[in-house]
Amino acid sequence: MRVITSKNELIVWRQGLLHQSSVGFVPTMGALHAGHLSLVSQALLDNDFVVSSIFVNPTQFDNSEDLAIYPRTLEADIALLETILHDRIIVFAPTAEDLYNGQPKSKSWDFGAIANVMEGEFRSGHFDGVGTVLQLLFELVNPTNSYFGEKDYQQLLIVKSLADQLGQSNEIIGRPIFREDSGLAMSSRNQRLSEVQKLQATLIYRVMNYIKDHISSVPWKDLKQWAENQFQEDKDWRLEYLTLADAQTLETRDVYAENLQQRVFIAAHLGSVRLIDNMAVN
Ligand code: PAF
Repeated sequence: MRVITSKNELIVWRQGLLHQSSVGFVPTMGALHAGHLSLVSQALLDNDFVVSSIFVNPTQFDNSEDLAIYPRTLEADIALLETILHDRIIVFAPTAEDLYNGQPKSKSWDFGAIANVMEGEFRSGHFDGVGTVLQLLFELVNPTNSYFGEKDYQQLLIVKSLADQLGQSNEIIGRPIFREDSGLAMSSRNQRLSEVQKLQATLIYRVMNYIKDHISSVPWKDLKQWAENQFQEDKDWRLEYLTLADAQTLETRDVYAENLQQRVFIAAHLGSVRLIDNMAVN
């Protein structure tokens, strides 16, 4: 495995590859977990080389406090990737100044209606930041395939739109959510949860599962009320949104439709940690 920390070194490495070599790309913000490793493993199966970036992107945070406390564990991340034992893996860990050519700044993107709900509504400028950093990274890595987890399902749809807009031949591949045995979705932010909070955090999974099991027989309005009550009963929680939405357009739905693909989405704060998750309900 090779660790590259400068843009120029990555450009030289990429230019040195044979034209026909395929490159899989796994962009991350570090604090890696088994979900990330599964993306890297899949990318290794599908491609000749894999680049995994580790970069906490300042422009996608709407809150400087959240950026300051985001886990940064570069050495442990590199050690974890080394367990895959592969000389076809490149870790790219640039500085913000180098990647952004000076002061990090977002471009403004038009991702249409999918960017205006949920994360787009509650985290102002978030998807502009994601689009901006991914454009920079895609241009450097020039990937054949790029891999994203469905935990950030809305982000996955945004990235597909971004890839269309950029017009690169970069296939965007979504991979299933990785969960702890408890059902808690793996997330870098889980590193900030205490053991007690990790147990509390399974509420999100339990609520989504209950919804999935009952959505064909109980009206959505009642299920939503029930779910909101579950969060209200514990003062450690602050529910931000609980949405039933079309899986393609992300349009909010007030009723369940068996013949349409729908997903339930949750964002909630447990103490000072913001967690998101989602699940297909049909
Ligand atoms: O999902 C993430 O970790 C980030 O949003 C990404 C895609 C690496 C962009 O910074």
